[in-house]
Amino acid sequence: MNAAILDGKSIAAEIRQDIKSRVDALLASGKRSPGLAVVLVGANPASQVYVRNKRKACAEVGFHSELHELPETVTQDALLSLIDQLNADPAIDGILVQLPLPAHLDENAVTERISPTKDVDGFHPYNVGRLVLRMPLLRPCTPKGVMTMLARTGRELAGLDAVVIGQSNIVGRPMALELLAARCTVTICHSRTKDLADKARAADILVAAVGRPEFVPGDWVKDGAIVIDVGINRTPEGKLIGDVDFAACAERASWITPVPGGVGPMTIASLLENTLQAAELHAQ
Ligand code: GUN
Repeated sequence: MNAAILDGKSIAAEIRQDIKSRVDALLASGKRSPGLAVVLVGANPASQVYVRNKRKACAEVGFHSELHELPETVTQDALLSLIDQLNADPAIDGILVQLPLPAHLDENAVTERISPTKDVDGFHPYNVGRLVLRMPLLRPCTPKGVMTMLARTGRELAGLDAVVIGQSNIVGRPMALELLAARCTVTICHSRTKDLADKARAADILVAAVGRPEFVPGDWVKDGAIVIDVGINRTPEGKLIGDVDFAACAERASWITPVPGGVGPMTIASLLENTLQAAELHAQ
């Protein structure tokens, strides 16, 4: 293997340590700890794991966190009134509605109902618009975590060719906006993209966010590229693997993120950062 590992697990641990010290300082000065409300609808097993990890991280840094579990059959109106209640709650700085929602619920309407200063996912059109305009407030967690990792490579990002495979609202699009703001030349690829392999091979930074196990083979990676694997896929044997063929891509890349222990912990670290940032906004 030639690539150096971008160790999300240890970078995220450093970030959590820093946040914990800042929370301790808040408490020492008589202020309340930041509060996160997590809303989980139904019993999607992957969502249950993600939510458990997010709440565990909150507890570790001393945040107040609360879980609102709603049945799969909850109505849109009941979900919106819970969000109204959390918007009005002074102990809550961040509201996270775990996605995906069951098909009968309107994700966009739910996202839009969250107060933009409590939108710690950065999914509200107000926060997306601010990212587009290069005046970000609360930034989507996964792309923000990736930018933190890229900074750790020490590489100057301006002028690099970045290719993002995946155009989701959660990762692909905001990832492309983050890289553009860092002055990369950005290509967004998706299921209708022609000559995907050629486009990937041109990338100095290759981000895979497709949700398909080992979708990116080694020969799609340019020598010396930075490879960021956003995928979390479970094999039939229960093993977690990413969207890139790690062993093959690591032969060519200069830096690569592992799965698990790469982007995943950084997403959670960014959520903690956003919740603290939201608490600072609410204290103003
Ligand atoms: N589902 C998958 N990723 C995310 C995320 O970052 N936030 C929320 N709310 N749901 C998700």
